[in-house]
Amino acid sequence: MSRRFVISTIVLLFLWDHLPAIADPQTNLLNLGCSTYNATNKSLFFANLNSTFSDLHSEISAGINSTVTTEETHSSAPVYALFSCRTYLSQADCLGCLAAAVDKVRSCGAGTGGRVIFDGCTLRYESAPFFDQGTLPGNTAVCGNGTTALPGFPAAVSSLTGDLSLAAPSIVGYSAAAEEGGVYGAAQCAATLSKEVCAQCLQVAYTNIQQCLPAGNGRSVDAGCFMRFSNVGFFTANQTVDLALYLGRSGGSSKKRGIIIGCVIAAVIGLLILSFLAFLWTRKSRRREDGWKGDILGATELRGPVNFRYRDLKSATKNFSQENKLGEGGFGDVYKGTLKNKKVVAVKRLAVSQTESAKASFQSEVKLISNVHHRNLVRLLGCCSKSQDLLLVYEYMGRGSLDRFLFGEKKEVLSWKQRFNIIVGMAKGISYLHHEFHVCIIHRDIKPSNILLDDNFQPKIADFGLVKLLPGDQSHVSTKFAGTLGYTAPEYALHGQLTEKVDTYSFGVVILEIISGRRNSDPKLGPSNQYLLEWVWQLYEDGDLVELIDKSMDPDEYDFEEVKRVIKVALLCIQSMVSLRPTMSEAVILLLTQAEPKLDPMRPIFIDSVNGVRGETSSSAYTSTTQATVSITQFSAR
Ligand SMILES: *[C@@H]1O[C@H](CO)[C@@H](O)[C@H](O)[C@H]1NC(C)=O
Ligand SMILES: *[C@@H]1O[C@H](CO)[C@@H](O)[C@H](O)[C@H]1NC(C)=O
Ligand SMILES: *[C@@H]1O[C@H](CO)[C@@H](O)[C@H](O)[C@H]1NC(C)=O
Ligand SMILES: *[C@@H]1O[C@H](CO)[C@@H](O)[C@H](O)[C@H]1NC(C)=O
Ligand SMILES: *[C@@H]1O[C@H](CO)[C@@H](O)[C@H](O)[C@H]1NC(C)=O
Ligand SMILES: *[C@@H]1O[C@H](CO)[C@@H](O)[C@H](O)[C@H]1NC(C)=O
Repeated sequence: MSRRFVISTIVLLFLWDHLPAIADPQTNLLNLGCSTYNATNKSLFFANLNSTFSDLHSEISAGINSTVTTEETHSSAPVYALFSCRTYLSQADCLGCLAAAVDKVRSCGAGTGGRVIFDGCTLRYESAPFFDQGTLPGNTAVCGNGTTALPGFPAAVSSLTGDLSLAAPSIVGYSAAAEEGGVYGAAQCAATLSKEVCAQCLQVAYTNIQQCLPAGNGRSVDAGCFMRFSNVGFFTANQTVDLALYLGRSGGSSKKRGIIIGCVIAAVIGLLILSFLAFLWTRKSRRREDGWKGDILGATELRGPVNFRYRDLKSATKNFSQENKLGEGGFGDVYKGTLKNKKVVAVKRLAVSQTESAKASFQSEVKLISNVHHRNLVRLLGCCSKSQDLLLVYEYMGRGSLDRFLFGEKKEVLSWKQRFNIIVGMAKGISYLHHEFHVCIIHRDIKPSNILLDDNFQPKIADFGLVKLLPGDQSHVSTKFAGTLGYTAPEYALHGQLTEKVDTYSFGVVILEIISGRRNSDPKLGPSNQYLLEWVWQLYEDGDLVELIDKSMDPDEYDFEEVKRVIKVALLCIQSMVSLRPTMSEAVILLLTQAEPKLDPMRPIFIDSVNGVRGETSSSAYTSTTQATVSITQFSAR
């Protein structure tokens, strides 16, 4: 026994000494995961992805940090990427590991997210920010084969990995490698984490890695951290740190150590209880989900919606009674419902055809929408599909929609502050749909009746993501559903040309309605004033924008310069040249910047028609013959 021990030690020492000589990027694959969602604009997506990969390469070549990040976010296919190299690898090996990781992660194709974990490095990209993520569902251990002959090895592993998990968060760069009693170990967090998140992640890693014992080597992999032990050295001797310096036991006091071990044990027990509860919880909430893939680091993956029972919704809405009806939207009627737990919800009964393909797209669209979480977007709580009925359950907004406050009997007048907040909130919500969610969602039907207000008058956009449920996606020629003329960008209404700037246009029109308190088309105002956009442009050219402001607002409580600035943003949004309109994330910045936009808006195009339905909000006149009956007239300068 002791001879074997001596021999192993000699072998170890031999390896230890010789490792530095071998350039090794450590590309043993531990984990690979891809998002199940594909980018919609693939050429744009791949261009962004390639550019982030080459950024990461340059940053590692610069040779300062072992964790590097980059992002390409100024388009509808955003890519956020993070590369974390083990600090004990040489720069050349880091570059080798990166190249191998890029190669591997390309197997995700156009998937909007991908992660690959090698022994030597971690590469991850997503369509949304994730750099602060530590431990996520899917964290796991990857264990080696066989058992070690060394007695006391398991105890030494537990001790070393425990020390590493406690010390690493206190070390600059969150990385530590050490050797104790024939065990080689390393722990690392992405340098972008906070110390607390790093510590939490490594605690989970520590718990996971114990499962590998008595194997001779093992790893813990997670979104934000990595841990590894082995009976063979995998770093050079001069890469180790003295953990005692970071564990507050330089005095070697066994009492202190005892306290620390006690804390660790308590933490581990606490963690086990928590993970057990989490396990029960996820089991409970997963029971109803289908297709939720337990992929590693899957936090940005899509989760399935909650399925409500039909009879619960039926009784909640008093059998979809007239008295519970809140309104009729483009996609179907909406009812107020009170669930058994007293929670009030809005139930939308979809009026879409019931073909098999419609049902299939219902499932995937609803799954997509139920993953959209933003304070300015109405939450989808769940769904229900029963024979002829497709039902969507949304959070309930007591104040109803914005149009009530703008064009209703005006019992409650919105202040400028409230109007401005609504405008900014809308911009943020739409910007999220376009730029920050996994896939770019174009709303296509932004209008005041789709903007709901919560108790604090914060706007929440409704009805996003539903357009795809329409058969054949011919929405642009069927304004009954998509796009109420008056809010619809001309290139979309006429040619079906769809980009996210279609929403920018509608947003601009809604801003003008919010400021003026009048509809974009109001025949009561006579032929010269009927169309809001024409009128606004006239006022803009005459330098008379103060005329536009809703007379029911108190002039003392708004700053005219600020209102003027917002009007100018609106004019930029409704420009006829699609490329001149700001993206919604640019619109947010324009709105929040004190300075007046430097750009001068170009004159918008006004939709006209030969049979006098120009700008009409009623949609009945618009059918698939839209293209024939509508013509564009450039508004002539006066
Ligand atoms: C994504 O694309 C891959 C191949 O390009 C395809 O196999 C997969 O089904 C697509 N996924 C979705 C959700 O469309
Ligand atoms: C993809 O994005 C590029 C760049 O923004 C744009 O030129 C192209 O038209 C887009 N393609 C599609 C199919 O939307
Ligand atoms: C991205 O890089 C890959 C591999 O180098 C290449 O095949 C592909 O054409 C590139 N795509 C774009 C859009 O640049
Ligand atoms: C390295 O990281 C530090 C802190 O995270 C950062 O300030 C610095 O810019 C980074 N250097 C490079 C070359 O990326
Ligand atoms: C486990 O051992 C077998 C045979 O020794 C080997 O083929 C296999 O690759 C090993 N697996 C791992 C994960 O090391
Ligand atoms: C560690 O030692 C190797 C040779 O054994 C040397 O090449 C390397 O520069 C050293 N690294 C540090 C950080 O001192």
